[in-house]
Formats: sequence, C-alpha cells, structure tokens
Amino acid sequence: HKRVAMLLSGGGSNMVALVDSMTGDHPARPCLVLSNDPQAGGLVRAAERGVPTAAVDHRPFKGDRAAFEAELMKPLLEAEPDIICLAGFMRVLTAGFVAQWQGRMLNIHPSLLPKYKGLHTHARALEAGDGEHGCTVHEVTPALDDGPILGQARVAILPGDTPEDLAARVLVQEHRLYPAVLRRFAAGDHSPIFLT
Ligand code: GAR
Repeated sequence: HKRVAMLLSGGGSNMVALVDSMTGDHPARPCLVLSNDPQAGGLVRAAERGVPTAAVDHRPFKGDRAAFEAELMKPLLEAEPDIICLAGFMRVLTAGFVAQWQGRMLNIHPSLLPKYKGLHTHARALEAGDGEHGCTVHEVTPALDDGPILGQARVAILPGDTPEDLAARVLVQEHRLYPAVLRRFAAGDHSPIFLT
C-alpha cells in the first residue's frame, strides 16, 4: 500500500472522508495526521479511527516558516509517506518544503481554480455574481493554490445563497472529489477527473 499523510488545521472533515475511503482494495492507507494546531478537532477524529497523530504548533515560531517547517518535517519523515494530502491545512508552505515533496503532495481548495486562490472563496464567488462554484484538487507547487489540476467538482450558486450556504454545498462535493482523486493518484493515474 501507498502511505498517505494528511495535514490539517481544523475539523478535518476532508481527512475523515479520505481515511474512511482507504479500505479494501484501495491502493493506499493512512500513516499520519499532522496539524499545526494541537487543539484541531481533526486530530481527535483521526485518533478515533486509529490513525497516528502529531501536532506542531506554529505559534511559538512567530512567523519563522523555515523553523516551523523543520519541526513539521520530523514526524513526516518518520511516517515515510508516499503521498501527502493537505486537507484544510491553513499555513502557507515555503518553496523549500514544497520542493521536498514535489509530485507527491496534493491540496484541496474550495473554488474552481484558477479562480479565487487564497481565502474567502465563497464570498468572492458570490460578489462576482458567478452562476457556479466548486472545489479543486491539485498538485502542490511553490505558487499558492497553483499546480496541475487533478480534479474538480461543480455546484450551482442559487439565488439568496450566503457564503455559509455555498461553503456547505461545496464541502459535500469536496468529500466526493478528494477520495476519488486520491484513489486514482495512488494507483499512478495523474489525469484529472471532473465530477458533475
Ligand atoms: C475545506 O473547505 C477546504 O477546502 C478548505 O478548508 C476547509 C477545511 O475543512 N481549505 C482551504 O481553504 C485551503 N486554503 P475540513 O477541516 O472540514 O476538511
């Protein structure tokens, strides 16, 4: 089996979808869930599923990203992942860190990239008057929310939608898309999939 480490900062619903998918004939298994927030709910949900967890609090590093990443690298190297999935990991990674995992690190982003890189994607899609929105899984490269697209899923934007409505509708699709992409990626298929 391919070994999959997941990095998160929050509740970890995408991590749960990924972990729960990695059974049976799936070509991968979880090896680590790692967070920059020791209080992240996702750590509890991972432990409940028998997945090893670790946390490296970014706050004592006071913006020294390289020093933070050096600590992050320790549990990661011990876990020996073949694939790293960023799953709601809300720290920007340096080019040096990304380079060490180039071609092996995936991210899920709550927009139809290349639209709306960065934060507040749902509010920005509403402000733009878009008729549709969605989520993207892509390979991580040094540029933020860039890199080859491995999959997308779309949702309609409905009259009266709030950013919260849209976030919830997109999250349902994230939980379909990320496991579908990971399964293919772990099997060596890097061609993109587009869910409807
Ligand atoms: C997800 O919507 C994910 O796409 C987004 O954070 C949420 C995490 O939810 N990621 C980003 O915004 C990355 N910049 P989860 O912790 O329940 O998976």
